Amino acid sequence: MTVQPQTIYLKDYLAPAYWIKTVDLIITLREEDALVMATLQLEQNVKVPQTGRLTLQGENQQLLEIEIDGRVLSAAEYVLTDSDLTLPLTAKSATVRIQSTHRPKENKTLSGLYYSNGNYCTQCEAEGFRRITYFLDRPDVLSVFTTTLIAEQAQYPYLLANGNCVDQGENDDGTHWVKWQDPFPKPAYLFAMVAGDLAKLTDTYTTRSGKVVALEFYVEHHNQNQVEHAIQSLKRSMAFDEKVYGLEYDLELYMVVAVEDFNMGAMENKGLNIFNTKYVLADQNTATDTDYQNIESVIGHEYFHNWSGNRVTLRDWFQLSLKEGFTVYREQQFAAACGSPTCNRIDEVNLIRTRQFAEDAGPMAHAVRPESYIEINNFYTMTVYQKGAEVIRMLHTLLGDEAYYAGTSLYFKRHDGQAVTTDDFVQAMSDASGKDLKQFLNWYRQAGTPSVTLSGEYYGKGQRFILTASQSCPPTPQQPNKAPFVIPIKIQLLDNQGTALLPANTVIVLTEGTQQFEFNNITQAPTPSLFGQFSAPVKWDYPYTQSEQHILLRHDTCPVNRWDIGQTMMSNAILAGLAQPETAALPGDMLEILKALIQDQKEDPALLSRLLTLPGFGFLGEKLSCIEPQVLLATILRIEQQIADVLYEPLLQRYEHSLPKGVYQYNQKDMGLRAMANVCLYYLVRAQQGQGLNLAVAQYQAADNMTLRMGSLRAVNDFDAALRNNLLSDFYSRYQDYALVVDKWLSLHATARHVNCFKQVQTLTHHPAFHWTNPNKVYSLLGAFGQNPMAFHQADGSGYAFLAQAVCDLDRKNPQVASRMIDPLTQAKKYAAPYRQHMTDALHQLSKEKLSANVYEKVSKSLEELQHA
Ligand code: BES
Ligand code: ZN
Repeated sequence: MTVQPQTIYLKDYLAPAYWIKTVDLIITLREEDALVMATLQLEQNVKVPQTGRLTLQGENQQLLEIEIDGRVLSAAEYVLTDSDLTLPLTAKSATVRIQSTHRPKENKTLSGLYYSNGNYCTQCEAEGFRRITYFLDRPDVLSVFTTTLIAEQAQYPYLLANGNCVDQGENDDGTHWVKWQDPFPKPAYLFAMVAGDLAKLTDTYTTRSGKVVALEFYVEHHNQNQVEHAIQSLKRSMAFDEKVYGLEYDLELYMVVAVEDFNMGAMENKGLNIFNTKYVLADQNTATDTDYQNIESVIGHEYFHNWSGNRVTLRDWFQLSLKEGFTVYREQQFAAACGSPTCNRIDEVNLIRTRQFAEDAGPMAHAVRPESYIEINNFYTMTVYQKGAEVIRMLHTLLGDEAYYAGTSLYFKRHDGQAVTTDDFVQAMSDASGKDLKQFLNWYRQAGTPSVTLSGEYYGKGQRFILTASQSCPPTPQQPNKAPFVIPIKIQLLDNQGTALLPANTVIVLTEGTQQFEFNNITQAPTPSLFGQFSAPVKWDYPYTQSEQHILLRHDTCPVNRWDIGQTMMSNAILAGLAQPETAALPGDMLEILKALIQDQKEDPALLSRLLTLPGFGFLGEKLSCIEPQVLLATILRIEQQIADVLYEPLLQRYEHSLPKGVYQYNQKDMGLRAMANVCLYYLVRAQQGQGLNLAVAQYQAADNMTLRMGSLRAVNDFDAALRNNLLSDFYSRYQDYALVVDKWLSLHATARHVNCFKQVQTLTHHPAFHWTNPNKVYSLLGAFGQNPMAFHQADGSGYAFLAQAVCDLDRKNPQVASRMIDPLTQAKKYAAPYRQHMTDALHQLSKEKLSANVYEKVSKSLEELQHA
């Protein structure tokens, strides 16, 4: 690195010297470049001292001309650098006009205005607007935008921007223009425009107050029959926000555009969402049930941002979780209302425990509201999103429905049209509920995953049960000592038959280092069910006896906890087996219980499919101080094999009952059956006896949907033999024209646990279907590879060197994608010495290159942590 990127601190926040009241943009899309004319109405912010200058951010463009109040500035009057433009400015208010050009077709960062598959689109969050024009590109500057787009009419029949279309016309030279006005003041990160030749699918939604909203979805022509599920998801989201939060949509038009080249999943631009095709397109032949669910969630998520993010926005990027954590929680509530609350919750818990806990224990650990960052794009993290959502969920648990919704209503009303902070949010919750939430703020301020150790004592004479709980939180970068958190513990006490002894939804709250909780009138020694529904994002431990574990697994009134105790029991067996992987085994009585569950036709198949799935590598790695990756993986695989062998017969029977009858339907019942069929098949293929492989081929051939086809491919994917390879070839030839299915094909190769996987991944980077410039392709192949313990953790470190080289190449084109790909290497500290050393070497190698701020931040923080390890 030549210049070290700077660290930005929350404590340095200063309001801007000027506000930008209105922005008038005229953007002309020409063959080679885009001409941008921006007219800004500036007004002094009287609350801050003036310097006589104003610095606007701007990158990657040619400045043509600046005018202030009608006078053109000479070059001597302003200062232009690679990243900003400083103007002389003393007036109370001023009109600034700036003309510049840039080359969207050369923009491979996919930030700002860029070109994808023949269409233009934008991505401005977090700091992309500065790549379009010079601006105060910060979320606390709210402006009313008017946007006029001009382009060739034949090539770009649709010209879209935020808000309402107010005028349009044609020119003599074959171009046309459309003028858009967004009445709601917004920060520049919510600006969007699109120009293209797309298929338009429409519907309408009538709001509770009777306003008719036009819904418009724009996709490439060949995808137009895959949009219905997304449209219906949007309508359900709109109804949900009205019913649950009392929030209505505020414009007459809601547009969603799907593009193939997109760094993230989707973006909530006001009135004009831009989506990765992955979260719009679905039909039964190309999308799995999980894809359908993800589309529903992401459509919901971006829609919910219209209030939590757009109408009430962020003061600065440190507050990111104010919109993202809250919106993820709202999205989770929506998904629970549409689908299976239990399975959704299990999947959320799995995600946070495997990925967020790892982040919280690594070099990039940060609080839900971080104190500093080098590159804001590195902070769209599991912590800001998933832990941020858990924090809102805890507030909901602590306050109860009534006070929680009173709080959110107050927040939206009080801060509508403002740019605010997480403190403002908590203040509104506190004001509405009358509860003191000062200590609760520790969840926003402190990084690290708290640990809670619990124990119970039963006093038969007094019929009392006393629960003792202690909390602690490990040190994280810049935070050696932690103050106690407010930890809500949903609790139930079960008798030996599994009958609940406490009222449903009992919550106790741990606020001190150590605390005791007393329960009276308990007539027998109870088994406590703790942290029901995963009521706090902590690691916890209670010394359950074996028979207590069995009571919980069979009878816990909280189904998430049934799954949880199963995971604990399986984890214990795997961890105990690490010393001798060849003999690792689940205890016989656990297998008996699993067998009984498989045979119990009343057991919900969706839940059962989760109960039967072993904890993953990431979750187990979190429990180890030093990971021997190949040993851990061998142990997991050994236990999978044991389950397959011992439970072959019941699994086979259940499998036969699980294939849904009749044609494909997207409903809870059939989805649960398909999930269960796929889990059974996964084991059946592994059993030494029987017909598993043939069943997999049969399922693949007979399937009328992608869920069962993928289930079959996943089941056989670890066996690098003709049968598997033939199925994969067949899959490719059937679906090579479907980009999103080709992504699945790539990630099947990259997730396979066989010795040739690494080589195949390397080879696939040269395959015509793989494109370094398309994020979905990179995530499907290299992202999946980085999560594949067998392939990534080569004993000689070649897997790490390969990934590091890929990161380096990607970084020159698209730093955001490169930065996401480096994550597996940031976990170096957790691995056994030779692996750690090879990972460190790979990081060192990278640190010698000229890196983007994105990759630099992760490399330098990882190396720093390793130095102190
Ligand atoms: N605002 C984000 C999109 C975004 C993220 C833009 C990072 C720029 C940088 C959007 O609301 C979002 O959170 N999208 C998620 C999907 C969501 C369902 C969690 C994403 O893109 O991954
Ligand atoms: Zn979001």
